[in-house]
Amino acid sequence: MDKFLINGGKALNGEVHISGAKNAAVAILPAALLVNGKCVIENVPDISDVDSIIKMMVSLGADIKKTDCNTVVIDATSLNEWRAEPELALKMRASYYLMGALIGRFHKASVPPPGGCNFGTRPIDQHLKSFECLGCTIKCDDTFVNIDASLLSGGNVYFDVVSVGATINAILASVLAPGKTVLENCAKEPHVVDLANFLNSAGAKIVGAGTDVIKIHGVEKLNGVTYSIIPDQIEAGTYMAAAIATRGNVLIKNIIPKHLDCITSKFIEMGVSVEEYDEEIRVIADKPLKSIRIKTLPYPGFPTDLQPQMVALLSTINGKSTVTEGVWESRFQYIEELEKTGVRVSVDGNVATIEGGVPLKPASLRATDLRAGASMIIAALASEGTSEIYELRHIDRGYEHILDKLRGLGADIQRRDD
Ligand code: UD1
Repeated sequence: MDKFLINGGKALNGEVHISGAKNAAVAILPAALLVNGKCVIENVPDISDVDSIIKMMVSLGADIKKTDCNTVVIDATSLNEWRAEPELALKMRASYYLMGALIGRFHKASVPPPGGCNFGTRPIDQHLKSFECLGCTIKCDDTFVNIDASLLSGGNVYFDVVSVGATINAILASVLAPGKTVLENCAKEPHVVDLANFLNSAGAKIVGAGTDVIKIHGVEKLNGVTYSIIPDQIEAGTYMAAAIATRGNVLIKNIIPKHLDCITSKFIEMGVSVEEYDEEIRVIADKPLKSIRIKTLPYPGFPTDLQPQMVALLSTINGKSTVTEGVWESRFQYIEELEKTGVRVSVDGNVATIEGGVPLKPASLRATDLRAGASMIIAALASEGTSEIYELRHIDRGYEHILDKLRGLGADIQRRDD
């Protein structure tokens, strides 16, 4: 079993290049199944979630090649299967995007309910509701969600909750549906906009992505394109949090600062110096930092996918901070594991109260999920002495070349096969 050995207590300094966004990549790659012709997708992060989605697409008959570690060429002309491999689909949450893509492509789809990180109940009722509003009939059996879309057409969908996945899936299912679709109460995350930009560059007619109403005029076909995925705001926020937790000075490169506004404003409130450039942000933690309150919300609110990293960071800051989880009902389960580092966090419902400033101690930790794994790494980097982090498969799902990137910032980190 692989583990990280981190000898912490050293400030991170230098520059780090941010990769393409995981959550955009896992939507845009399956979207290429809707395209007639070849798509060249650039700035694709080299992570295991991308490998999993590519495997699933290949098992459906798509011709996919990686021309370098960040460029994927997809030709789905020969796609011949609308049933997704259960074993592959259960490995990741984003397998649900095959539903929308296969509906558009074949007017039928059989896809198992998705896997992914466990934050309690992760329903897909809003995805299925949107398909029904577009004329689909859905039957679930023991293995598959079976969707008959023979009567697919444009329709009106009002989402009862703001859901990234349901918004993206409804866009995928409707781009080739005859007529007009109106989606209301949509998610506004940058990766929703990125997916719409990709599809529009291939010939789709989608307007309003990034607002809460998206309108789609169905087109007959989409054409091959070359498209580059946006930078990953969560990866950027993770390196910022690590730099600040170690009281370092780091230039975060290849980012869209606007996507990070909700994150950098919290760092500024803490007392961090933040210098913003066109495609870079520098964070400098050279002054005493203050405790703060955070509530996670859908974009443009503070992202839930940075919540665990913030709990680790706030544990290094004197005073009482609170973090309220406003998206997932059960996303504090990792705290029990993080407590091995000496963090003082008490959880009451969806609010975590952090008594910060107690020196963290090295520990043997399990990455309990992807972002919890990042929080364990931050705690280990901030602790004097050597920590071990296990279950790296979770971290490998979403952080490209994290060992090299942290070493580039001066971290003492090794990967060992135990
Ligand atoms: C995506 C991200 C995940 C992130 C989350 C919120 C991907 C692959 N994953 O997940 O990293 O944490 O957005 O930013 O992009 N809900 C329902 N019914 C549904 C769907 C969702 O009630 O049909 C609820 C969920 O329980 C949750 C909330 O809506 O409370 C938001 O979930 P959603 O935005 O759908 O998350 P995902 O798209 O699964």
